[in-house]
Amino acid sequence: MMMKQSSPVSGFELPELAADNKINRVLAAALQSCDLSDVPVFEESPIYWGAAYFGLDRVSIFQGASEREQQEILCQLNQGLLHESLAIEQAGVGYMAKMVLMADSSQERMLYSLFGADETMHLAQLQPYAKSDMEKIAADPFLQLLAEIVESADKLVLLFVLQVVLEGWGLTHYRSLAKDCSDQGLRRLFQSFLQAESRHHGTGVMLFSQAQVSSSSQVTIVDCLATFLQMVRVGPQRVMGAIATQLGHLSRPQRIKILQQLDTVTHSHQRLQLLKALMTNTGGTIVDTLEAKGLFTPLSPEEAASYG
Ligand SMILES: [Fe+2]
Ligand SMILES: [Fe+2]
Repeated sequence: MMMKQSSPVSGFELPELAADNKINRVLAAALQSCDLSDVPVFEESPIYWGAAYFGLDRVSIFQGASEREQQEILCQLNQGLLHESLAIEQAGVGYMAKMVLMADSSQERMLYSLFGADETMHLAQLQPYAKSDMEKIAADPFLQLLAEIVESADKLVLLFVLQVVLEGWGLTHYRSLAKDCSDQGLRRLFQSFLQAESRHHGTGVMLFSQAQVSSSSQVTIVDCLATFLQMVRVGPQRVMGAIATQLGHLSRPQRIKILQQLDTVTHSHQRLQLLKALMTNTGGTIVDTLEAKGLFTPLSPEEAASYG
């Protein structure tokens, strides 16, 4: 019998069932222990994070744009944040399921199964706020990298890159989303994710520090993280991308000015230092190798203006 080839771990390509499919009812009943009472009243283009969250209050071309253009830029960035969180949780469900099968002890298997339920709840709770969009996922280099890494068969690569580094990073990201969110329901939602995410991250740190890391795993880990760090070094390119989408082509001098006003060096530096601290805990030689490649150094506005 021909078996269907298993779908990608990220789940990014999975179709959504039609609303009248009976499976939806079973799922809704099974999710009932998850509090979905804060489901938002649907607005056309809600702004949960304002200009200051993105540093746009300091960008002169944004300040000079019409009110409608400013709203469009903020709307694109807000949707981007929600959409990214949704995709991360979607990939998390697949990742945890994969780790259930890769577990080395009964306790580990039980833990990952519970973690899978955490990510499923997060996904279900975010779904009222954003829609999964294959086109956006395909155009996003970070989500593409994530989809690639979760396919790895090397458990230590998965543990270090996804659980130690990216879940640690996600924890800080969700905390800042919660802190600056203007909507009470959504703010509480991101806050409610923190405890589970911290447990996911902590388990990764624990399991990785107990493991013997082969040099081939090291090399793969360094490769994955180098690609990721490069994305952080180039600064707030999404903010610049949203400006360009709404206001049209930006010349090189305009791009440099925007990056200067967004203070791209400080923006990247803070993030790179956080990532370095997450890696230093458990991966001393990994950090040294990445450091030697200059990957914890932010790009200047002039350098960063050539990307994006
Ligand atoms: Fe999550
Ligand atoms: Fe998680």
